[in-house]
Amino acid sequence: MKIIIASDHAGYQLKENIIKHFAGDFEWENLGTYSSESVDYPDYAHPLAEKIASGENKYGILICGTGNGIGMTANKHAGVRAALCWNVEIAALARQHNDANVLVLPARFITDEEAFNVVKTFFSTAFEGGRHQRRVEKINIH
Ligand code: RB5
Repeated sequence: MKIIIASDHAGYQLKENIIKHFAGDFEWENLGTYSSESVDYPDYAHPLAEKIASGENKYGILICGTGNGIGMTANKHAGVRAALCWNVEIAALARQHNDANVLVLPARFITDEEAFNVVKTFFSTAFEGGRHQRRVEKINIH
């Protein structure tokens, strides 16, 4: 499975750690940022979200300090379902019920170990479909 990943400066270190930890498990495309120098999260969320919205890529990970700014930005793109997940239960439900295609992590409020578990859960959990399919189809307004 190929995963595209991006962060701002607050998420930079966790992004690098995730890529390293799962180097043999997934194919990664790192869309930046490439250092802990201060940047603006929309500059990293939009390019990743565009690739998901266009269908060029199926799954992504976005990371900022709280996860909120980068997730809010990504969710402006139709077809992007970015879910802020801070534990494995929420990660599983984001896939099972919401068919989330972008995992959002709050770097300043999650340990590396918990983040690794969240990544593992998110990308190994299937969408349940059924009644959730109808709800997911009602998300887009265009
Ligand atoms: C950066 O300081 C911080 O504001 C950002 O990473 C994020 O938490 C915004 O939502």
